[in-house]
Amino acid sequence: MAAEQENAGNLKRKLAKLFQLSLEATVPGEPDIEPLVAACTGKFGDYQCNNAMGLWSKIKGRPGIEFRGPPAVGQAIMKNLPQSEMIESCSVAGPGFVNVVLSKNWMAQNIQKMLVDGIETWAPKLSIKRAVVDFSSPNIAKEMHVGHLRSTIIGDTLASMLEFSNVEVLRRNHVGDWGTQFGMLIEFLFEKFPNFEDVNETAIGDLQAFYKESKQRFDVDAEFKDRAQKAVVRLQSGEQMYRKAWTQICDISRREFDQVYQRLGVHLEEKGESFYNPYIPGVIEALTNQGLVEESKGARVIFIEGINIPLIVVKSDGGYNYASTDMTALWYRLNEEKAEWIIYVTDVGQQQHFDMVFKAAKRAGWLPADDRQYPKTNHVGFGLVLGEDGKRFRTRSTEVVRLADLLDEAKTRSKAALIERGKAAEWTEEELEQTAEAVGYGAVKYADLKNNRLTNYTFDFDQMLNDKGNTAVYLLYAHARICSIIRKSGKDTGELKKTGKIVLDHADERVLGLHLLQFAEVVEEACTNLLPNVLCEYLYNLSENYTRFYSNCQVVGSAEETSRLLLCEATAVVMRKCFFLLVRETLQGE
Ligand code: ARG
Repeated sequence: MAAEQENAGNLKRKLAKLFQLSLEATVPGEPDIEPLVAACTGKFGDYQCNNAMGLWSKIKGRPGIEFRGPPAVGQAIMKNLPQSEMIESCSVAGPGFVNVVLSKNWMAQNIQKMLVDGIETWAPKLSIKRAVVDFSSPNIAKEMHVGHLRSTIIGDTLASMLEFSNVEVLRRNHVGDWGTQFGMLIEFLFEKFPNFEDVNETAIGDLQAFYKESKQRFDVDAEFKDRAQKAVVRLQSGEQMYRKAWTQICDISRREFDQVYQRLGVHLEEKGESFYNPYIPGVIEALTNQGLVEESKGARVIFIEGINIPLIVVKSDGGYNYASTDMTALWYRLNEEKAEWIIYVTDVGQQQHFDMVFKAAKRAGWLPADDRQYPKTNHVGFGLVLGEDGKRFRTRSTEVVRLADLLDEAKTRSKAALIERGKAAEWTEEELEQTAEAVGYGAVKYADLKNNRLTNYTFDFDQMLNDKGNTAVYLLYAHARICSIIRKSGKDTGELKKTGKIVLDHADERVLGLHLLQFAEVVEEACTNLLPNVLCEYLYNLSENYTRFYSNCQVVGSAEETSRLLLCEATAVVMRKCFFLLVRETLQGE
């Protein structure tokens, strides 16, 4: 984990600080002992410090060391732990694990403090100011496929988590709007629509089909091919008619992409490949002057240690490619945009490409050699989307999956489920539509995020819209139930949080309270390790812990009503923040 700053709510970090002091006192003068603190589920404690064994193997046999084995080191670590109001008791177990039981009064006070001061006080505090998240990034005139949907969903969540951490995020859509395919598209456009300037999506119909048709032509007709190749040159040299046709094609694609983004509520700022084009020659020249660019089989390349193919930055025909653009975009982001963390979200198939780009940037001295230091880059890869048959995802009728159709289906199905629950009688048509969209799209997003992103995932509507298990639907209902309990109590939790007091005397209250407090460290882990599924798992467990608490602890009408309503409120607040970060759902406190 990147070394970040103190965060008011992060228990693990607070304990690590205390253990740091204890370790320094246990073996004075020992450099670089990082406290190893982890949450634990055992009956001996809430957190554990696991340094004793490692430390013992480092120091045993040294003159002046009086410990006899790891348990004794553990005892010393425990003894040297500074007094703290957050700790109730400590014990040493097995080969020197130091278990910590947190004080339930301290826990209760801190949950209440969050309710009063806001969940933002539990946000991670990163030591950077600006990041780029490069995500979605479909290609003009080609299909925007489920891979791009995954990139859009995962990228949006990562960007949201960084924004929550007070980092300014440049949400970059690196669309494929440049390249040789445009020669073919433009010539085909001229041919089919002599008045091409008036052409729009209604005339062209389907840009993907248009692409396919022009490609067919390109493959069989030598004369057309020749014209298309010349068109690339004319476009790149800035000939007006060609520029106009290019803009036209890009605009049509862009409008299609925007519809998907709008439906998903995702905000992106386009800086496509073409944007970086004017900067490429300068960047390649600088790299050449540094002695990094070499000739190889007519092309100009950068060799990278440990990888047997070089990174081609100028093709043998003198043209630029994907890598030239990515090197230049990286340079621009570091130098012009002053981004300290640059994150790329694409399928795992592009891992080697990014690995090479990052290594080339290190060779050029743009990035520090140590990956833990900023500025840094990360490739966030993800696996394939599979259909229920375990094969690459396709819809029944078409070869490719149209994202718009997919979102339509999610909405239709969730609307049907709402009607089945009798909501049509309760709500207006507009409410029904809005909820169907929120639940349907939320379900698609959540199903994607809850898996470890590197594994392939199976797209299954029945599963993602199930109201049981780890699904958005189940979790949204869980949140709605909590809100309705609060509402039915007739109490104003806004007042109660100032005047009332939380107590965590019942075992299930304590478990729920601890889980709530762990939000801060989990969201920091999900954000710094770029793993949204960690936050999904947390949210699901929160709802499970809440259910156990609610089944075993009477809320309304009990002697502990105030405290328990505040626990309900805190659970709803944390859930809402998770929903916002994961699926961009803004829920009301109903
Ligand atoms: N357009 C590419 C694709 O569809 C993804 C671009 C990712 N970003 C980048 N900077 N290379 O595969």
